[in-house]
Amino acid sequence: MSVAKKEYKRVTVKSLVEMKKNGEKISMLTAYDYSMAKIVDAAKVDVILVGDSASNVMAGHETTLPITLDQMIYHASSVIRAIDRALVVVDLPFGSYQSDPKEALRSAIRIMKESGAHAVKLEGGAEIKESVKRILAAGIPVMGHLGLTPQSIYKFGTYTVRAKEEEEAEKLMEDAKLLEKLGCFGLVLEKIPAQLTKNVSESLTIPTIGIGGGKHADGQVLVVHDLLGMTHEFNPRFLRRYMNLYEEMGNAISNYVSDVKSQDFPNDEEQY
Ligand code: KIV
Repeated sequence: MSVAKKEYKRVTVKSLVEMKKNGEKISMLTAYDYSMAKIVDAAKVDVILVGDSASNVMAGHETTLPITLDQMIYHASSVIRAIDRALVVVDLPFGSYQSDPKEALRSAIRIMKESGAHAVKLEGGAEIKESVKRILAAGIPVMGHLGLTPQSIYKFGTYTVRAKEEEEAEKLMEDAKLLEKLGCFGLVLEKIPAQLTKNVSESLTIPTIGIGGGKHADGQVLVVHDLLGMTHEFNPRFLRRYMNLYEEMGNAISNYVSDVKSQDFPNDEEQY
């Protein structure tokens, strides 16, 4: 059952700011391919994130670092072909924006031009300020991402909760305000204390989207494979699984194998 306060035929960056103003929570989920994006879009998820988590989920890498710009464009264009309603945001992958603002702009332009996406997402605050400015100046909407930023995993050393200490929390708040001032339309807050999410969300007019950031964010994002229970080894506290597809798919596939072996499949009706 939907509890939307207003029907959006097409979600835009403006719709998200309006949702925050109206007190309507924003739903965001990842998708990396056409078939999944069709289902996610039809279920009226507001924002589809073509996350660089595709590196883990689709390609089996341990981190998000190996995925390339070409691979992100491939995933994004598959998603774009599926959607009628959702706003599609694409992650700029590691190495495609950190070295200088011109390179960041070139990468963002490639994503927009070659995939047809609607916006890009970058990890970081003050340190990527010039890149964010340049991309925004080209008319490309930018979403920020603070807290646990997986592209910096080797700096952090672990995937534990960020900004528990005063100093890191203060820097996060400053970065959030800076990203809003620069013109970002939204901000992902990953794995930070719920109280800090509340403080940041109340200090900004742009929406915050939490993942492991608690209930005070203006919206929530999850990796769709986690929500559906297709992944089963990853069990963080913040994750709510709505299905156990790993088991259900495994059972269905085992049944298929048995039916082939026993010559039950195909039967007389299943042939020409
Ligand atoms: O890549 C991703 O899926 C993300 C979300 C975890 C926010 O950035």
